Amino acid sequence: MKITVRSAVEVDLSVLLALYSELNPDDPQLPETSADAIWAAISRQQGRTILVAETGGTVAGTADCIVMPNLTRGGRAILFVENVVVASSFQRRGVGRQLMEAAVRLGESAGCYKVQLLAADDAYVHTFYEACGFKALAEGFRRYIP
Ligand SMILES: CC(C)(COP(=O)(O)OP(=O)(O)OC[C@H]1O[C@@H](n2cnc3c(N)ncnc32)[C@H](O)[C@@H]1OP(=O)(O)O)[C@@H](O)C(=O)NCCC(=O)NCCS
Repeated sequence: MKITVRSAVEVDLSVLLALYSELNPDDPQLPETSADAIWAAISRQQGRTILVAETGGTVAGTADCIVMPNLTRGGRAILFVENVVVASSFQRRGVGRQLMEAAVRLGESAGCYKVQLLAADDAYVHTFYEACGFKALAEGFRRYIP
């Protein structure tokens, strides 16, 4: 199966929203005007890239990446990854791995010294990130804002 990874463009918005509803099935649907406005804000954001993986003309997965300029580590930036999801019908076919490799390449080309993400608390998700070369080197902390 040939998989290509590219930056998402506006026409990908509906498929991105469908993937995000697989990731967070309990989320209410975003009104179209809100989604359009958020997409516009994302598009303008420097260092932001939503990657999509395509196979046979279908978008099968995505990973949202942002480069954070940084004053430590000799000024090398950090690449953060969020919202990683592969459509259930395309899982276990290498799509997620290609997305993570593309994220690391983005980080390399932006001069980042690390790629950082938080993993869901699922053993298989940890296996996935380890298979992609990530190590569980830190403990994640999160505080939700109501
Ligand atoms: C986690 C996820 C992104 C993996 O995507 P994927 O395209 O299925 O992963 P890949 O096919 O590229 O898998 C790469 C390697 O990861 C490991 N892996 C992936 N899924 C696995 C599973 N269900 N069980 C065990 N190992 C798994 C394997 O080592 C696999 O290599 P192999 O198939 O050669 O054995 C996908 O399962 C998903 O979208 N899950 C739901 C959303 C989610 O949990 N996202 C992460 C939030 S932090």
